Amino acid sequence: MSVKTSTLTIDDKTIELPVKDGTIGPSVVDITPLYKHTGKFTYDPGFTSTASCESQITYIDGDEGVLLYRGYPIEQLAEHGDFLETCYLLLYGELPTAAEKQDFDLRVTRHTMVHEQMNRFFNGFRRDAHPMAVLVASVGALSAFYHDSTDISDPQQRLIASIRMVAKIPTLAAMAFKYSIGQPFVYPKNSLDYTSNFLHMSFSVPCEEYVPNPVLSRALDRIFILHADHEQNASTSTVRLAGSSGANPFACIAAGVACLWGPAHGGANEAALRMLEEIGSVDRIPQYIAKAKDKNDPFRLMGFGHRVYKNYDPRAKIMQRTTHEVLSELGIKDDPLLDVALELERIALSDEYFVEKKLYPNIDFYSGITLKALGFPTTMFTVLFALARTVGWIAQWKEMIEDPSQKIGRPRQLYTGFAERDYVPLGQRS
Ligand code: CMC
Repeated sequence: MSVKTSTLTIDDKTIELPVKDGTIGPSVVDITPLYKHTGKFTYDPGFTSTASCESQITYIDGDEGVLLYRGYPIEQLAEHGDFLETCYLLLYGELPTAAEKQDFDLRVTRHTMVHEQMNRFFNGFRRDAHPMAVLVASVGALSAFYHDSTDISDPQQRLIASIRMVAKIPTLAAMAFKYSIGQPFVYPKNSLDYTSNFLHMSFSVPCEEYVPNPVLSRALDRIFILHADHEQNASTSTVRLAGSSGANPFACIAAGVACLWGPAHGGANEAALRMLEEIGSVDRIPQYIAKAKDKNDPFRLMGFGHRVYKNYDPRAKIMQRTTHEVLSELGIKDDPLLDVALELERIALSDEYFVEKKLYPNIDFYSGITLKALGFPTTMFTVLFALARTVGWIAQWKEMIEDPSQKIGRPRQLYTGFAERDYVPLGQRS
């Protein structure tokens, strides 16, 4: 069998590097032998040209606006499936049969409660703590409560940890919310489906009956599907890197939650809504567009642009429809934020700066408006993203652990600090 190679010449030295083809998408040049043969590293700080792993989970074509989970287009999954089906697909590689789906739903449902001692753990936080701070800590703390699923070399323990993470993350997210608003925690109600149960834990109170609205529940379920995985983004790469050292899955997912928090990543939905609120009215949009285009102003239009999508974000299209569905179900006709959002989108899509730089609205542009209409405060937006992305992180972590070629991730660097120099005793320093 012939192996494709690429030829690289550095300092008069020519080497052949293997080229590997994926099923679809760009091929990669395998540069693992580079250092051995040339004494040189590659340099790509933002990983803009670097594939960090082989994966069979999610495929994105940023130019065409394509997102596939295990080969299935996101549009079809969002239209026809439910979130737990997507979880099964991401974790096991195939859509479940009816019997498999029933069994999986049951297994997840059985693990929705968290250790009772977690309540006390929550009590240590200030009430005004950001729910993401609480989530990072409580997810990490799961490893202190579930010792029987932290041995990563045991496939059965890996499986249980995966189910536990998918099942318990809505409970922890709802607890973070309840704690921040001073209401009692609500135990999971396993007669409800996954997303209705989450709405119930978030919005019910012991003194009143709460019946989740199926339209809103379906909309939120779809939002979860849209956020479930996105190949090697910053938080997923963080989970993989943390996991590459052999750390337990709960610790790895906590690392992913921490990374997701940043405004350039999962924190963008919160930032996008704050920006819409700050703009406030349609007539103020031009001054914000000008700020976004000003090189000397750090302001960016939150919810616009993407490292990979340079045509449109397919999730944003579905999200836009979902936003309208939710607003119409809730009878919200004139939402000033939506007016600002639609006008901002219209202007940005026709403005030369945004067109030329291929800055399209991403999923976070619309998700904030929808989550607000559903009754969540802005501080919960990234928590909801984390809830949905947990299955993607777990699937990627599992794939990495089960990959026989897996080794600890250990990037190198271009050192630009001092060369070796001698220690100067304190009294002799000027
Ligand atoms: N507003 C104004 N200008 C922008 C924006 C924006 N939102 N995004 C990028 N640019 C400009 C940027 O200034 C740069 O201009 P120049 O070439 O003149 O220096 C050019 O576009 C390329 O930007 P970049 O920062 O090199 O692109 P990147 O691929 O490193 O960044 C991004 C991608 C998503 C971090 C960035 O577009 C951004 O900060 N967007 C706003 C935050 C946001 O919405 N993030 C959510 C991403 S989707 C959800 C997720 O995956 O977590």
